[in-house]
Amino acid sequence: MLDAGVGTGRNFPYYPHNTMVTGIDLSPAMLARARHRRDKLGTMVNLKEMNVTEMDFADDSFDAIVSTFLFCVLDAEYQKPALEELCRVCRTDGVIHILEYAYSEKPLQRFIMKLWAPWVRYAYGAEFDRNTEQYLEAAGLELVETKFLYKDIIKLLLVRPKGV
Ligand SMILES: C[S@@+](CC[C@H](N)C(=O)[O-])C[C@H]1O[C@@H](n2cnc3c(N)ncnc32)[C@H](O)[C@@H]1O
Repeated sequence: MLDAGVGTGRNFPYYPHNTMVTGIDLSPAMLARARHRRDKLGTMVNLKEMNVTEMDFADDSFDAIVSTFLFCVLDAEYQKPALEELCRVCRTDGVIHILEYAYSEKPLQRFIMKLWAPWVRYAYGAEFDRNTEQYLEAAGLELVETKFLYKDIIKLLLVRPKGV
């Protein structure tokens, strides 16, 4: 399994048992914190410094990929290249789970998020409205399911390579 944009390793406790995981991240500082967490928890994860838009894994390397809050920090120009790379390294019968933010449709919640957005942009380079779904088809992927995990704000995209 691949965890793309592994960050400090906050997903480690949720990996399935006995699964070999590779975590990649662009930031050495995040990876250092992830290594610390891995050693503390004893998680089986191999950590590598790598850009999601140019990964050095062979085609079809992973049967499952997770990416949590990575696409909200990727600018528009990197969304499709990153998805193309996930498609390339995912087996044709594999699955990709992408967890992302969306603006709420509820007026009050949406208003609060709009107020909060400049700080999120400044602090994390993140946006709530990346709409990563719009790049899936051009990247060779298809959307299987969208599930909201927290209100209508945090959504899980279940995606797979097209033509399976
Ligand atoms: C908001 S954090 C999410 C971290 C983790 N997935 C989580 O849910 O806690 C986004 C992470 O993506 C990493 N990142 C940003 N651009 C990247 C890129 N082009 N390739 C790989 N990682 C990247 C950042 O360094 C950061 O660790």
